[in-house]
Amino acid sequence: MKQIFIVANWKANNVVVKDWTEQFKFLSLQIKNDELKKIIVCPPFTSLIQVRALIEQNDLMISLGAQNISRFPQGAHTGEETGEMLKDIVDYVIIGHSERRAMGESEESIGSKLIHARKHNLTPILCISKLEEIDSQRENIKNIFSPGQIIIAYEPLQAIGSGIPDTPEHADDFGKQLKNIVGDVPVLYGGSVKGENVKVFTSQIYISGVLVGGASLKADSFYEIVKNS
Ligand code: PGA
Repeated sequence: MKQIFIVANWKANNVVVKDWTEQFKFLSLQIKNDELKKIIVCPPFTSLIQVRALIEQNDLMISLGAQNISRFPQGAHTGEETGEMLKDIVDYVIIGHSERRAMGESEESIGSKLIHARKHNLTPILCISKLEEIDSQRENIKNIFSPGQIIIAYEPLQAIGSGIPDTPEHADDFGKQLKNIVGDVPVLYGGSVKGENVKVFTSQIYISGVLVGGASLKADSFYEIVKNS
């Protein structure tokens, strides 16, 4: 049985974290803890500490991730959060999400972020929407990451937030090609994942989980995804 990663990306949405965590806890009491399911929640920076405290208080089997990391180690970079700052708060970090690429994030910057994440023992969830995007990072990935130290999420642009997911077969084929290039890293699918469609993705051979935006904002719809994955 493979490990399944279920990652929530709250983006810049206001989630009332106390309500979310309490409701998620209440719902998850109904299922037994499944060690093969790894749940990762990526709130905005401003909520990280609070979510971390609530996860501990409520004894939730949830790991924490950031939505970004600075490409700089430290210094005069207003508005940046460095790997050094994040390393004691989170275990994962999303890098290269298409929404950040659309804001001008370059491959060079993504490469630096991967290096900083590795340096501080954070596992990147590197997002790509086409195979060419992996070409630029291929050497970086092979040189600095060992198996288990990086996750790659395939997120086709037209599927993000549209309600129209990719076909599971196409996502699986993408995962296969990706593994041929970078080796055996977990490949996640992201784009309009819901409780009703998650299983068709996670049951594909080359897909090891999902990255969820909209449906992760409410504890009950995210719980449905976890349950059905
Ligand atoms: P969505 O977003 O689930 O709202 O489509 C996915 C993502 O951007 O990671």
